[in-house]
Amino acid sequence: MIEHTLSLCYHNKLILAPMVRVGTLPMRLLALDYGADIVYCEILSTLVKGTRRPVTCKIRILPSLEDTLSLVKRIERTGIAAVTVHGRKREERPQHPVSCEAIKAIAETLSIPVIANGGSHDHIQKYLDIEDFRQATAASSVMVARAAMWNPSIFLKEGLRPLEEVMQKYIRYAVQYENHYTNTKYCLCQMLREQLESPQGRLLHAAQSSQEICEAFGLGAFYEEMTRELNTRRAELLARTPEAVGEPAEDPSGVIKMAVKFDRRAYSPQITPKMCLLEWCRKEKLAQPVYDTVQRPLDRLFCSVVTVAEQKYQSTLWDKSKKLAEQAAAIVCLRSRGLPEGRLGEESPSWHKRKREATDQDPGGLRNQEQAVPGELCKKLFVALGSGEESPLEGW
Ligand SMILES: Cc1cc2nc3c(=O)[nH]c(=O)nc-3n(C[C@H](O)[C@H](O)[C@H](O)COP(=O)(O)O)c2cc1C
Repeated sequence: MIEHTLSLCYHNKLILAPMVRVGTLPMRLLALDYGADIVYCEILSTLVKGTRRPVTCKIRILPSLEDTLSLVKRIERTGIAAVTVHGRKREERPQHPVSCEAIKAIAETLSIPVIANGGSHDHIQKYLDIEDFRQATAASSVMVARAAMWNPSIFLKEGLRPLEEVMQKYIRYAVQYENHYTNTKYCLCQMLREQLESPQGRLLHAAQSSQEICEAFGLGAFYEEMTRELNTRRAELLARTPEAVGEPAEDPSGVIKMAVKFDRRAYSPQITPKMCLLEWCRKEKLAQPVYDTVQRPLDRLFCSVVTVAEQKYQSTLWDKSKKLAEQAAAIVCLRSRGLPEGRLGEESPSWHKRKREATDQDPGGLRNQEQAVPGELCKKLFVALGSGEESPLEGW
C-alpha cells in the first residue's frame, strides 16, 4: 500500500482496490495520477516483517447480518486501522447486486473507518457516482476495483478521460518501469473490453512483446526512445558503481546473491556459464551443480538457485526462461568464486589451464587464490578493475 504519511487517514478517500495482476506498478501510478488517494499492491511480506504502518483488512459479508456484525466487531478489536467491506457474500459473483444495506449496518456499528467496496457494476460509472455510493453505504471512503480497471481516470474530479488517451498513458508507464508485457497486455485487454475485436484489439491480442504493444498503439517511436534512455541509464549506473551492482553478497539465509543476467551475445558461441561450472566441478571432484528453479505466477518469470559444494548461489534478477535463470545462477557462482565463465575476451580456458598448471607447482599462487573465500577473491578482482586489469564486469 502506498501511503503519504505514517498515520494514514481513511476518511473520505478514493481507493484503488487490490486486484491480482491488475494492480501492478503502472496501474497504481496511473490511478494516483488521476486522483486516487490510496492504492493497494501485493498487500503481505511487509506486514509480516512487523511494519509500523497501519494495517487494514478487507472482507466480504457473511450469509447473515448478525454474523457479519459479530465478525467485524472481533476484527475491530484486533486494533486494525480500517476495514474494507465488499458488500457481497463469498459465493456471489461480481455481477450480483452489492448490498449497500449490509455495508451501512457495519459502518453504523463500528468506530473505525469502514471503506465501502463492490459498487463498480451497478453504481459507479463516473466520478460523482463514487460519492453517491459512499453516502448510500454511510462509509468513510470508497474502494474501486473494476471501474478503475476499465478506466483508471474514474478517480478524476473533472470526469472520465477518453480510453485511448488513458491507454497511451498506461503504456508509457509500463515501458518506463519495464512492466512485463504479458501483464501490460492483460490490463489493456481489460480496458478495451468490447473493443477487443477492433483492429487495435486484434493487434494487441497478437502482440508478443512490449515493443509490439507500443506499435499497436502508435507508440513505436516512444518505445525505441525510452529503451535507449533506459539502456543508457543502466550503462551509466553500472559504470559508476560496479561494486554496488556486481559484488556478491550473502543474504541472511546463506545464499550468495548478485544482480546478473545471462546475455548470450557476450559469450563464446560454444560455451555457457553452466558448462564452465560443470567442468570446474568435475575438475575439483565436486558433485554436479544442482539447479532449483521457481516461476513467479504474477509475471511468469524464473529464478534459479544453484548449489555447489553445499553453497547456494542465485541472481537477484528474474528471467524470461528457466534456461536463462539457470545460466544467471551459474554466473553468480563462477563470479563469486573468481572462475572463468566463457565470456568473450575472457582469459581462454587453455590460458587458464596453463596458468593453473604453473601454479600447481607453486602452492602459493593462483590455486590458493581460487580456493579463497568468495568475498575476498572478489575484492581482489574489483581492485584489479581500478588498476586497469581485466575485470569480471567488463562488457555488462
Ligand atoms: C481482476 C481482479 C482482481 C482482483 N484481485 C483481488 C485480490 O487480489 N484481492 C482482493 O481482496 N480482491 C480482489 N479483487 C476483488 C476487488 O478488490 C473488489 O473487491 C471487487 O472487484 C468488487 O469491487 P468493484 O465492484 O469495485 O469491482 C479483484 C477483482 C478483480 C476485477
